[in-house]
Amino acid sequence: MKESLIIFDTTLRDGEQSPGASMTQEEKVRIAKQLERLRVDVIEAGFAAASPGDFAAVQAVAQAIKESTVCSLARANEKDIAAAGEAIAPAERKRIHTFIATSPIHMEKKLRMSPDQVLEQAVKAIGWARRYTDDVEFSAEDAGRSEIDFLCRIFEAVIDAGATTINVPDTVGYALPHQFGERIRTLIERIPNSDKVIWSVHCHNDLGLAVANSLAAVLAGARQVECTINGLGERAGNAALEEIVMAVRTRQDVFPCDTRIDTRQIVPASKLVSQITGFPVQPNKAIVGANAFAHESGIHQDGVLKHRETYEIMRAEEVGWATNKIVLGKHSGRNAFKTRLAELGITFDSEEQLNQAFARFKELADKKHEIFDEDLIALMSDEGVSGGHEVERYRLVSSCFHSETGETPKARLVIAIDGEEHTVENEGSGPVDAAFKAIEKLVQSNAELLLYSVNAITQGSDAQGEVTVRLSKEGRIVNGQGADTDIIVASVKAYLNALNKLLANRARISPQV
Ligand code: KIV
Ligand code: ZN
Repeated sequence: MKESLIIFDTTLRDGEQSPGASMTQEEKVRIAKQLERLRVDVIEAGFAAASPGDFAAVQAVAQAIKESTVCSLARANEKDIAAAGEAIAPAERKRIHTFIATSPIHMEKKLRMSPDQVLEQAVKAIGWARRYTDDVEFSAEDAGRSEIDFLCRIFEAVIDAGATTINVPDTVGYALPHQFGERIRTLIERIPNSDKVIWSVHCHNDLGLAVANSLAAVLAGARQVECTINGLGERAGNAALEEIVMAVRTRQDVFPCDTRIDTRQIVPASKLVSQITGFPVQPNKAIVGANAFAHESGIHQDGVLKHRETYEIMRAEEVGWATNKIVLGKHSGRNAFKTRLAELGITFDSEEQLNQAFARFKELADKKHEIFDEDLIALMSDEGVSGGHEVERYRLVSSCFHSETGETPKARLVIAIDGEEHTVENEGSGPVDAAFKAIEKLVQSNAELLLYSVNAITQGSDAQGEVTVRLSKEGRIVNGQGADTDIIVASVKAYLNALNKLLANRARISPQV
């Protein structure tokens, strides 16, 4: 029997710290459910003390998740730890992850604390956390640049105090694989009670080495890796979950451990996170990039046709790439629709919700004869059906766009605000610009448009366009999504979706991690 490698996903916490990647509570729950389908061991749902919104999101994830452990981050102080403990209370399995910086530069310049004070605070923090759960993780922030003697001292003390996982973060992405592996090996060898805990690593990607450093640590004895879907995270991001999992799975000849991840859920998870955050996945990204399994050169294609393993070390299906098979069409019934969505992990709270979703599916099937899984997922997220209960103050009722060579493009929209319909018109440099200006004329949000991106969900010119609109107002950033076979309509839906999210006002204190 191989040892277990624990996968700790921090997409909802460190991932959300990517500028512009903020997610609503509903979106976090949706991602958490997909992470559970992926069978990640631990979901770091957020930083409960950062704001009331973050607290509520951690709590909502704790309520929704049954299989994975739900974790909240907390600084090593009593207030943060109490917020974390209360937020995760509803979870079946719960963890508190408390941290304090241990590098000379962080202790002296940021915390203004001596190493002894830091050690004392860390030990107290473990005691506070153990009031709420027996599963307590301790992180020495900036461990990659901390003195090894001090790390040995503080880790030994927190293990004695009751920490059950010790995390060694390379917070600034400074480590090199051979050094980082050596650091983990030394810690495990030198600390007398090191066998009482799971050793974990959390690597940032500033030098593009997050995955390499994490894998070097696993070879040196780490048995938990902290990572994110698509490598999302602070600055250059964290180690990418899909790369860690597939490296370990593919190179079982080298690794003494394996994960319990259902790898077929990797691509759906990647797409969901990309769609919700508006962060596109680069085509040549390992495992989840659109070209990750595409063979362009004739020699490669010939090789793959003759014997797949000549150029492929993994199978596309194994990581969840669908063969784009048509799943439903306009003649499909309500039951087939419901069953396929259940297979994709989307369920309905009521018959009425199912009926509404089915009606929208029929509308789509009239426009687009072949409906793929990706279309269904977009349809459901577009309408916020899959568990979403966002306030829908603004709703598109109908639209008319005019675009002709030599003429100024125009948009006329009918928008319902709190159920009351308003008609508004505007011109613009193109129909999308005209539509956005028309919306602003009506709602006067004065939000700043930070990002507008369009993606085709499937292939072919009848594909649905999926639009992300990122708006910023008073320091708050939200991503709106919209999908439609008409990309201008999709754009309007995405803009209104972002405005609806801005309304769900959620002040967010910078977590200072
Ligand atoms: O990068 C880091 O050090 C962190 C810790 C809080 C684990 O995110
Ligand atoms: Zn981090």
